Amino acid sequence: MSSQEFIGPEMSPLRLRDVTVPHRVWMSPMAQYAAGSDGKPTDWHLVHYGSRAVGGAGLIMVEANAVGALHRTTSADLGIWNEEQATAHRRLTSFIRERGSIPGVQLQAAGRKGSHQLPWVGEGQNGSVGVAEGGRQTIGASAVPFGDLNAPRAADHADIDEVVDAFARAARTAHLAGYQVVEIQASHGYLLHEFLSPPANHRTDEYGGSPQNRMRLALRVARAVREAFPAEKAVFVRITATDWIEGGISLDEAMMFGKELAAVGIDLLDVTSGLVVRDTHARPPTQQGVHVEFAAMLKNATGLAVASVGQIDDLSLAGELVASGRVDAVMIGRPLLRDPYFALRKRPKDQAAWPRQYRRAL
Ligand SMILES: Cc1cc2nc3c(=O)[nH]c(=O)nc-3n(C[C@H](O)[C@H](O)[C@H](O)COP(=O)(O)O)c2cc1C
Repeated sequence: MSSQEFIGPEMSPLRLRDVTVPHRVWMSPMAQYAAGSDGKPTDWHLVHYGSRAVGGAGLIMVEANAVGALHRTTSADLGIWNEEQATAHRRLTSFIRERGSIPGVQLQAAGRKGSHQLPWVGEGQNGSVGVAEGGRQTIGASAVPFGDLNAPRAADHADIDEVVDAFARAARTAHLAGYQVVEIQASHGYLLHEFLSPPANHRTDEYGGSPQNRMRLALRVARAVREAFPAEKAVFVRITATDWIEGGISLDEAMMFGKELAAVGIDLLDVTSGLVVRDTHARPPTQQGVHVEFAAMLKNATGLAVASVGQIDDLSLAGELVASGRVDAVMIGRPLLRDPYFALRKRPKDQAAWPRQYRRAL
């Protein structure tokens, strides 16, 4: 029996600039809250990402990395703003590359969701870490809190310029660290999404009001990152297709944003939704492949490659989605937490895909 019989359309390579991703089943960024206060990756990150590389994920998008000390969500976030961090990240990127996967990293500014407790800190104590407890004053598009978190300070023009510079520095640091892809986090209610979305952005200056104004910061960041990251490497944006709420971002507006990103030279839209306000209606519905149709519409409207994330828990479904042309790749989140070998499961006889150390088990 030929190994080819086990290889579906999701296993074909995808080239973006000079980066050839070996196949279309990718690891979605998932924060581990396992870094030290210096923001450097630890043994946990090497084993965690290393296992998914051994498990054959085509591209590994390392979790949200803060673009500066002021931009961390928690005190245990990874960071990507200095050379020491870049050196520490090299252990991850070289292992991932050795296994034939592509190392990518997500760049994030936390905005009003910053200065937060680790998620597993007990109920009643979870939430913001105030300045008196060693936390910091966060910035947001406006001084409007997310749920019961501490209110941010509305970013002034100096803060906005600093954010743009911090993303550009993070892109340069990511290059030094050996990443072949960077992803700008413009979703899930973090700073760039806060500027994009009316429920979080009440500004009356050139960064608020019209869609063009609300997109201004994210587009400045996209341009700065594209310029700072080598031309042969790829830049993705994690984009919100809809906020799911009245007065929030709609698909039409997401398409406008996507077209502007295409003009900046972004290579791929990683399509997700929701989470800009703390409201159960603002969460993506529980539904298999929940963002696939949005991704397909964004692909049509922008001409960019797209990935869909969310509730794709079956490799056969991944194959169907890629074969249908609606998406170019799938981002897998929680299924890869449950099973690091998710991408290899359908290929028990594909000797070449499995590490040679494990082949006697096949
Ligand atoms: C533990 C955990 C951490 C996450 N951290 C991030 C993150 O750092 N950046 C991000 O964009 N999304 C993050 N997400 C969202 C996932 O990337 C993904 O979009 C979501 O889990 C839906 O995909 P799934 O149904 O395949 O899990 C996280 C999700 C989980 C479960």
